[in-house]
Amino acid sequence: MSGATAETTSSQESSFLSTIVTEIFQSPLNIALLGLIIFLVYRIIKSRQDENTPMPESESLPSLKKRDFTVQELKQYDGNQEDGRVLLAVNGKVYDVTKGKRFYGPGGPYAAFAGRDASRGLATFNVTGGDQYDDLSDLSTLEMDSVREWETQFNEKYEYVGRLLKPGEQPNNYSDEEDESNAEKSKDD
Ligand code: HEM
Repeated sequence: MSGATAETTSSQESSFLSTIVTEIFQSPLNIALLGLIIFLVYRIIKSRQDENTPMPESESLPSLKKRDFTVQELKQYDGNQEDGRVLLAVNGKVYDVTKGKRFYGPGGPYAAFAGRDASRGLATFNVTGGDQYDDLSDLSTLEMDSVREWETQFNEKYEYVGRLLKPGEQPNNYSDEEDESNAEKSKDD
């Protein structure tokens, strides 16, 4: 009797599972999303395994002196250059994400953000970064909220380096003696 109940339960489970699997594979969009999830999880697991290898010198680089960047200048810092430093911009702020190299370094799942303004990509769930200055003016309120949330997250985790300059905008001249509060102030300009 109990054997029969167990059999019924297991056959119910397997039919439930097969319904889900069938539903997933019915839509090409679901298949694409599943593929994307598997791919990203694989890349993250792989980069975690790589983490167990000794830390290369490039991940413990000295702090970069505060400075502002044009889009072109930022581009050099995609982790492929000799020192391997990785910078990216979010909402007009440039962050040193070298310690997050497993995400943004060459071959990482979010390498497309390295040396670029990641704002639009982060807000639209698209792992791409443009080559031109992006004023983000066409993003929706929700998307801009998401950009600001990402900015807060980067602020908490990574070192702020300077501003991403609009075309024609002049860089700030950060003096060596400038204290943190001044740096914070210029960051909000
Ligand atoms: C397909 C679904 C996705 C999965 C399963 C996934 C999963 C993950 C996981 C597990 C982490 C690591 C968290 C940690 O160890 O701290 C991560 C980090 C991250 N994800 Fe995704 N992700 C996905 C899609 C995306 C998309 C579409 C974007 C943006 C376009 C994105 C942006 C990021 C960023 C920027 C980080 C690193 C944050 C940092 O620097 O700490 N992810 N993701």
